[in-house]
Amino acid sequence: MTDQLNDNVTAEGAVYFIFGATGDLARRKLFPALYSLYREGKLGDKFAIVGLARRPRTDEQFREDVLESIKEFCRYKIGDGQDWQGFAERFTYHSLDIGNVDGFRELKASTEALEARYSIPGNRLFYLALAPELFGTVSRNLRDGGMLESAGWHRLVIEKPFGYDYPSASKLNEEIRHVFREEEVFRIDHYLGKEMVQNIEVIRFANAFFEPLWNKQHIANVQITLAETVGVEERGAYYNKSGALRDMVQNHMLQMLTMIAMEPPSHLDPEAIRDEKVKVLRSLRGFKSGDEVRERVIRGQYTSGELRGQPLNGYREEDSVPPDSTTETFFAARLFVDNFRWSGVPFYVRTGKRLPVKSTEIVVEFKNVPGNLLFASRQQLQPNLLVIRVNPMEGIYIKINAKKPGNEMTVQPVAMEFCQSCQIGINTPEAYERLIFDAARGDSTYFTRWDELAAAWQLVDPIAAAWQEHAADLAYYSAGAWGPQQAHKLLHQDGFHWWPVNGQDEDNVIWVSNTSK
Ligand code: BG6
Repeated sequence: MTDQLNDNVTAEGAVYFIFGATGDLARRKLFPALYSLYREGKLGDKFAIVGLARRPRTDEQFREDVLESIKEFCRYKIGDGQDWQGFAERFTYHSLDIGNVDGFRELKASTEALEARYSIPGNRLFYLALAPELFGTVSRNLRDGGMLESAGWHRLVIEKPFGYDYPSASKLNEEIRHVFREEEVFRIDHYLGKEMVQNIEVIRFANAFFEPLWNKQHIANVQITLAETVGVEERGAYYNKSGALRDMVQNHMLQMLTMIAMEPPSHLDPEAIRDEKVKVLRSLRGFKSGDEVRERVIRGQYTSGELRGQPLNGYREEDSVPPDSTTETFFAARLFVDNFRWSGVPFYVRTGKRLPVKSTEIVVEFKNVPGNLLFASRQQLQPNLLVIRVNPMEGIYIKINAKKPGNEMTVQPVAMEFCQSCQIGINTPEAYERLIFDAARGDSTYFTRWDELAAAWQLVDPIAAAWQEHAADLAYYSAGAWGPQQAHKLLHQDGFHWWPVNGQDEDNVIWVSNTSK
């Protein structure tokens, strides 16, 4: 965590093993991230990358795949020939049947040769871009094939979904923990790698004017929106089992909520920070009955509709989705963190596919000032807002009330914005760059610890169970709309409304920004 503030840190020498090297994640995210780290000198000069998958491929073919992926997805353009050659020669490919331990023994021999060649001190990072059912087998074979016998550290980086519910997550965890210690396991939630999610701590704890107000006395509600325009694309089979609850809420949404709600950690170290996060998850008010779920949670599914003039299919018409599916593509809920700081403050969360915009934003709505003769008698004052823009725009703005210039005592809402991603010359690292780099340095701050994961499943499981009993609760929305009507009612009942994301849509607000608008 502290090193993160220092741009000049380099990872220790290591071999990076990418399991699932011919897959989509490797192509879209992992190779480009490794190249960016290389370009920034963060990998140092003692490193090698081994791609592993079942399909036969020569080193040369593999390097071609990597080149194509970087050209398409990396924020850096390929440099001159020498620069690319220097990177490409560190890539080798190893065809492996992950169910067969003999392949791991061969891998051990070729790894030792690589380590000798590049003076790598036996540090090994295993990135499993694989289906979770395989995590246990790979872990066991890494151990039985001798891959964990080198002198340096061994780290396992894994991707979600971590199970389907608490019992399956727990089983998966046990399989991994037979081989790796908790501090060797790095569970990725890519939202934790995002610049503005990491910035929440700084905004909260490095500014005098937020922290004193950051509690039930001054905050009316918090709104977390993670909206996507995409449908389920070619992932219908996966998504239909998972739905928005398991795909987005159990992980990304709850992680953002914990960053907003956590207490200041006693130290800036990974365990102290994660201790605070887990306390938030454990303070979340659970769901004791189906009625409670119905009262506080809305689930929706998109039907056919239109987005920016384009006609769109309904969810049930998507590839690999059964025509009678009741999987939710939209989720909204009113959550409560039942502790001293937050007692009674609603945290509204919503996420969905085929919504009108791609945008992740966190809105902190402050309580209104007490009505007074001068202003309140004449007009409805808008509440102050702090808005953290996570994705794709990155930045923050605050909305305050100010006097409209002129003779009248009219109050005008003014939004003061710092748009980080609009600044020329800022090319912020991708989430995967930060996360791979952190794992290589052994910094687990922005990875999910098992107890966090367990607490998140324990919140989510009763919701899924209630839905199973009452399939009839599914609400519908047209593709391109802001979810079902019920999601709006959820806030109206409490006297609030969802603030528009991409706040510029609001009329009568004056914008003052670091960029020209
Ligand atoms: C993934 C989900 O974890 O996050 C996807 O599986 C979703 O369904 C994606 O589209 C959203 O991530 P981002 O970074 O594009 O907001």
